[in-house]
Amino acid sequence: MGAEAAGGRVTARLRLVPAGPGNARDLWLVQSDDAVWPWYSPEMPGWAQVEESARAMGESWRRHGVHKWIAYDRASGEVVGRGGLSRTPVDDDWGQLYRFLPDEPWVRAVREGHHEAWVEIGWAVRGAFWGRGYASELGRAALAFAFDTLGVRAVVSCTLRHNVRSRAVMERIGMRYAGEIRSRGLVEGLAGERDDAPYAVCVVTSPSRNPGA
Ligand SMILES: CC(C)(COP(=O)(O)OP(=O)(O)OC[C@H]1O[C@@H](n2cnc3c(N)ncnc32)[C@H](O)[C@@H]1OP(=O)(O)O)[C@@H](O)C(=O)NCCC(=O)NCCS
Repeated sequence: MGAEAAGGRVTARLRLVPAGPGNARDLWLVQSDDAVWPWYSPEMPGWAQVEESARAMGESWRRHGVHKWIAYDRASGEVVGRGGLSRTPVDDDWGQLYRFLPDEPWVRAVREGHHEAWVEIGWAVRGAFWGRGYASELGRAALAFAFDTLGVRAVVSCTLRHNVRSRAVMERIGMRYAGEIRSRGLVEGLAGERDDAPYAVCVVTSPSRNPGA
């Protein structure tokens, strides 16, 4: 089966392959990278944790037809990063996003415990590959997948307020800053995780709903 048929994509420089148990080692290369893991947790994830993430990602691809990709350099085959889309669960954390989306019924529509009409986008690139536009390339492919393949109405992204590189990717690919939420995570200048870490939220709605955008 071709990469496209299985949910994969090919961009100018990247081969995007659905993450799952079969490429857990490659996911680990990204998630244990010293330029990556400090943005997600106070400690580097262990192999068992990454293996569990890979299992959950594979399960989501199977059940929901979407989750993160592993990004490989098309020319060298090297693992560049991981990223893409994920369904958002219906809970208090994600409920904070409603105020940044249109006041329309699709925003709260639920399917199998997840928001049916909007998804989250995210990315992580191994430190050796920063500054080359790979995250933006992956991000654009993910937006196309969201609107053209999944047919969702909006894509959201949340990043720690002080993660300027990630915020720059959001803006580079056409998302707009919408405001802040608070959730568990890291706070600039403080050790460990807090329940009320500030996250910047960016949103983009379906191009068909924004003619000329
Ligand atoms: C967030 C993250 C993915 C951004 O990576 P990045 O390499 O800065 O982002 P891009 O791939 O969009 O690259 C943009 C940079 O490449 C440059 N660039 C070079 N060639 C380029 C090209 N062909 N296209 C676009 N940009 C290009 C841009 O000028 C820009 O440079 P600048 O940062 O000096 O302004 C990366 O910092 C990361 O993995 N961080 C850790 C994980 C993380 O925080 N993830 C987000 C959690 S919400």
